[in-house]
Amino acid sequence: MTARLAVLVSGRGSNLEAILDACARGELSAEVVAVIADRPGTRALKRAEARGIAVEVLDASRHPDRAAFDRALDARLHAARPDLVVLAGFMRMLGPELVAAWLGRLVNIHPSLLPAYPGLGTHRRALADGVTVHGASVHFVTPELDGGPVVMQAEVPVRPGDDERALAARVLEVEHALYPAALQRLVSGQVAFRDGAAYCDGRRLARPERLRVAEVA
Ligand code: GRF
Repeated sequence: MTARLAVLVSGRGSNLEAILDACARGELSAEVVAVIADRPGTRALKRAEARGIAVEVLDASRHPDRAAFDRALDARLHAARPDLVVLAGFMRMLGPELVAAWLGRLVNIHPSLLPAYPGLGTHRRALADGVTVHGASVHFVTPELDGGPVVMQAEVPVRPGDDERALAARVLEVEHALYPAALQRLVSGQVAFRDGAAYCDGRRLARPERLRVAEVA
């Protein structure tokens, strides 16, 4: 079965592109049925349009408050009938009602090994702490910021001399393998959300699966 994905974006869209590529290669049994951005003119929208994907702009600045934006987004999502709602560089917090409505079908990718470094500035904080391993996580979205159960993670080494830019680029590269791999586990039903936790093959995941990335630049 081909799963239906709605992808929410705010900016560059490189994860969106990686997901589209994985679908095209048959590595992800899914179809992107909608791309929704919270602002006009983003690179993500151009990338999607170039590939003939239906895109929509739901301009957050034209909605009086978060609740109004969330209601409009919920209506768009219902119209698209996705199996999964995929946040890919979507820079808005969703309100508790919307999260509750899509709980278990709403996932995000975050540039750290959660629960380390939720929120912004993850690479800067990792470098300041002198960690030697950093990475990215795909997690179910719950009302807590970057706090939902983790589906899958990928590690990268922190190398001597790394600055924020170098580390961000290394993490982003593994994100492009991680997100499609995690989504495939979800669309196949191998990993699912139950009772506030991630389950894999019917067992509660004690620790998130780590994606083996052959070679990290
Ligand atoms: C990624 O680093 C992702 O982890 C974070 O936002 C960034 C999005 O990049 N949530 P892109 O728009 O997919 O290129």
